[in-house]
Amino acid sequence: MTQTQDRRTFAIISHPDAGKTTLTEKLLYFGGAIHLAGEVKARGQARRARSDWMKIEQQRGISVTSSVMTFEREGITFNLLDTPGHEDFSEDTYRTLTAVDSAVMVIDVAKGIESQTRKLFEVCRLRSVPIITFVNKVDREGRENFETLDEIADLLALDVTPMTWPVGLGGQFEGVYDLVGNRLLLPEGPSREFQGKVIQTTGLDDPKLDEVLSADGVAKLREDAELAMVGYAPFDATAYRNGDLTPVYFGSALKQFGVDALIGALAEHAPPPRPQPAEPEPVAPTRDEVTGFVFKVQANMDPNHRDRIAFMRLCSGTFKRGMKLTPTGHGKPIAIHSPILFFAQDREIADEAFPGDIIGIPNHGTLRVGDTMSEKGSVRFTGLPNFAPEILRRVALKDPTKTKQLRKALDDMAEEGVTQVFYPEIGANLVIGVVGQLQLDVLISRLEAEYKVAAGLEMAPFETARWVTGDPAKLKEFTDINRAAMAKDRDGNPVFMAKSAWEVGYVSERYPDVKFAATRER
Ligand code: G4P
Repeated sequence: MTQTQDRRTFAIISHPDAGKTTLTEKLLYFGGAIHLAGEVKARGQARRARSDWMKIEQQRGISVTSSVMTFEREGITFNLLDTPGHEDFSEDTYRTLTAVDSAVMVIDVAKGIESQTRKLFEVCRLRSVPIITFVNKVDREGRENFETLDEIADLLALDVTPMTWPVGLGGQFEGVYDLVGNRLLLPEGPSREFQGKVIQTTGLDDPKLDEVLSADGVAKLREDAELAMVGYAPFDATAYRNGDLTPVYFGSALKQFGVDALIGALAEHAPPPRPQPAEPEPVAPTRDEVTGFVFKVQANMDPNHRDRIAFMRLCSGTFKRGMKLTPTGHGKPIAIHSPILFFAQDREIADEAFPGDIIGIPNHGTLRVGDTMSEKGSVRFTGLPNFAPEILRRVALKDPTKTKQLRKALDDMAEEGVTQVFYPEIGANLVIGVVGQLQLDVLISRLEAEYKVAAGLEMAPFETARWVTGDPAKLKEFTDINRAAMAKDRDGNPVFMAKSAWEVGYVSERYPDVKFAATRER
């Protein structure tokens, strides 16, 4: 199973502006997925790569980017899964993180750990996803390195191990020292980028350092780096893989410092595909049967076709084109004739794929987020929950003849896992639920742009919702009394819409035989 051992499926988590896009471009560039010649062209092309993404983002609303980027280097296949970059936490983001084996956390050296980084980190922690930290923008002024390291350790309750050390920051920046390989990476040219100039040393005492660095720079490097090496835990691969320790790389995505080291760290330390939680038992990547789960569905990738792409993470077996897989729980086997693998921004038809790979499956709405796909239908992956929405709104149509289109649009978006839709027992207005405010704006603009439905949102008398289950007689008693607050979700499951979290507490005390769940696993 060497193909499996050679896969690294990961995501980048960060706060907006920390440099995720720049780092992604540079990873693709150093990973050989974007070919460049010369600096000027490099700039132009990098800019073009970015503007393409932005165009797509504008067209598709904020939740969309190139979802999967694959590149290969030295026999290792890297699958980089994009997490939506906006500030609102969404289910989409959560689910993407269920499909990775490790993550890279990008932090701005001047800002440290910011809110979005923290939230995404907590999601990773729930699944013990190992994290490599990249402290970005060392070519700019920033906080003291010790302050940054201590903040990561304190806020995230992780051991930290510095792997590289910047020589000065901002105006004083002179290069980056690799504490593991004892190499000094130096800037070149007017833009002071890293273009491959490396000095191999025998250690921090090596007099070669005095020749290329300023007296102040080298003195501070020696003092700080030595202190750091005794002050922080030594790198421990097991602790990293258990999610207890993060190796920290200081660098500059823009100036290419540390990018190579990061790819090296992913190749050397990041875990290959891990067993995935499933029923009746976890699925190891070595299992022969082809299994996977759908973690994202994207509708309308091509405005001319009403197709959808379901993104499936392969968990075991060797997938071959044309193979038939059965979505567990609903439906017949589907023959997958045109699977898509994602090489940078191009789509390629895949003939074969291995555990850890992501396959795009074109379909007409049969596949949903959370679906397990397998050859024999013998397993079901767990842990891809729906979250109780924190914001509920009624959807009001401006043109009442568009009811059908509205339903279709809301069903599509619910299928993508971006919003949830509820059908109230009483009244005709659909209720939608989201986890963050921004998703409401995206919803309205997409309704107009993609479905030509003009609609507005009205306050609903409800604030949150719970899935209810229990003994059928008791459940019926509960729903009869609370009919005005009852709805069905898209799969027909009963949902209680509450005026407040307090009300949820109140009714759950009064109806001890009914279970109120804030998440629903599919
Ligand atoms: P994001 O995807 O995390 O939101 O961040 P993005 O890469 O777009 O970077 C945000 C800004 O930070 C960009 O500047 C980018 O050029 C800059 N940046 C990223 N990495 C580095 C770095 O290592 N050093 C320095 N000095 N800057 C960095 P911008 O002005 O917003 O955009 P642009 O005009 O440069 O495109």
